Amino acid sequence: VTVYVPQDSAARSVGADSVAAGLLAAARRGGRAIDLVRTGSRGMLWLEPLVEVATPHGRVGYGPVAPGDVPALVDAGLFDGEGASLGPVERLPWMRRQNRLTFARVGVVDPLDPADYTDHGGLRGLRRALSLAPEDVVEEMVTSGLRGRGGAGFPAGIKWRTVGQEQAAVKFVCCNADEGDSGTFADRMVMEGDPFQLLEGMTIAAYAVGASEGFVYVRSEYPDAVETLRSAIGIARGQGWLGPDVLGSGFAFDIEVRVGAGAYICGEETAMLESLEGLRGMVRAKPPIPALSGLFGKPTVVNNVLTLCAATTVLGDGAEAYASYGMGRSRGTQVFQLGGNIARGGIVETAFGITLGELVQDFGGGTLTGRPVRSVQVGGPLGAYLPVDRFDLPMDYEAFAEAGAMVGHGGIVVFDETVDMARQARFAMEFCAAESCGKCTPCRLGSVRGVETIDKIIEGSDVDDNLALLDDLCELMTDGSLCAMGGMTPFPVRSAVQHFGEDFLDRRRPAD
Ligand code: NAI
Ligand code: SF4
Repeated sequence: VTVYVPQDSAARSVGADSVAAGLLAAARRGGRAIDLVRTGSRGMLWLEPLVEVATPHGRVGYGPVAPGDVPALVDAGLFDGEGASLGPVERLPWMRRQNRLTFARVGVVDPLDPADYTDHGGLRGLRRALSLAPEDVVEEMVTSGLRGRGGAGFPAGIKWRTVGQEQAAVKFVCCNADEGDSGTFADRMVMEGDPFQLLEGMTIAAYAVGASEGFVYVRSEYPDAVETLRSAIGIARGQGWLGPDVLGSGFAFDIEVRVGAGAYICGEETAMLESLEGLRGMVRAKPPIPALSGLFGKPTVVNNVLTLCAATTVLGDGAEAYASYGMGRSRGTQVFQLGGNIARGGIVETAFGITLGELVQDFGGGTLTGRPVRSVQVGGPLGAYLPVDRFDLPMDYEAFAEAGAMVGHGGIVVFDETVDMARQARFAMEFCAAESCGKCTPCRLGSVRGVETIDKIIEGSDVDDNLALLDDLCELMTDGSLCAMGGMTPFPVRSAVQHFGEDFLDRRRPAD
């Protein structure tokens, strides 16, 4: 019998390795031959460690399994799919309601088994891309409507077209895997759970624009992802998926992994390029955009992990099929990540258009503490805080922009009624002060002044005057900062004041 246990670092952090060892020991004791496969995680993090057993009715799940639970579960018939199971995993409501394109294989396959990859649809996109002219691959991307999943939502096909049209002997594809947003983990999970998909997406991009070398810039906090990717690259070279003659097409492309050193700002694309060049991660002024002058001054595609992964679906299924998902100008699927104070946290990949409330309440089940939700921050530490009365907002770039918020990289962090929004606003400024690259004054100094001003508000001193000062400062940071770090820190601050004004105003002392 085949038994699956995730090797994803989220699962490992709650004991998946011990559970795997316990299952092997129980099988040995019972004289039972089992085939233990370590997979990625399905993304139902509240069920980790989630053990799955292959049965004639599909893969049956057990979870969360504590290491100490293993002997009793095995005695009750786990290896035959019997006992207290969750039933077939694919039929759980959480899984059934999703449109898993990028995450289709994550949690299902052995991440480093090339046969498992191709048996589950891997390489379809690359094979089709290589049968087309590079310009036609770019046009597929344009038609699909795929927008950058790192946060800014720039149309990927247009970016690829810009790089493709540049005349240069050397071009690069750089994957931004510096996933620094609080509450986001989708890049990590796909790199650990389905690394070949990222390599395939990068190779499609390279072919489309005429690049010969690729880099994946991974944050140092993701050692498992780094190791998995490095192993996957070695295997892919051995399979002829990477190297001097990709899939016998005559096209040459190879990929290297580079590890960051723990700076949030290195997720900003130009700071990432500086870091890749061996320099300190400082933001470069744009223009020129990296598409024209990127790594070592060469035309460079810089895309997020999820964007490059989605390219495999666009090419594999066709642009129209991909574009059939979504709403408005937000086409395809987004991988939402539910975190913070939430009953059921994890990965939800669905078409754009699902509402914020459906994600938080229906998928997430409200807060873990059981108290009412008061606020959610969408799009990382630079994203706005939204109150429950905005739960009707559809996940759509334009709808969010209109509401003064952003979808970003799809992270959703939930807070219950005990949250103090003035402290959250302070945290935004503090985060900016800590992570600022220091290149421009509104961000470098503004964030420090921001912390001081909010501290005064929290103390209750001259609250109205300090709120006016804070608003002024936010305007200056928005207009005067060189990059999104200083330019978007005002989003969480201003949204906290706008939607949760009482947390600031109620601090007024009677004398004010
Ligand atoms: P941006 O709007 O300046 O650029 C978006 C992308 O489009 C860039 O790659 C840029 O080079 C490219 N681009 C712009 N004009 C182009 C053209 N004419 N042709 C070709 N390419 C063009 O946004 P930026 O500063 O790169 O990103 C800000 C976003 O980053 C924020 O919205 C935030 O959501 C996100 N972010 C994501 C984080 C994460 O961990 N994933 C962390 C922090 C921020
Ligand atoms: Fe650096 Fe901040 Fe200016 Fe961005 S806004 S360039 S992080 S100082």
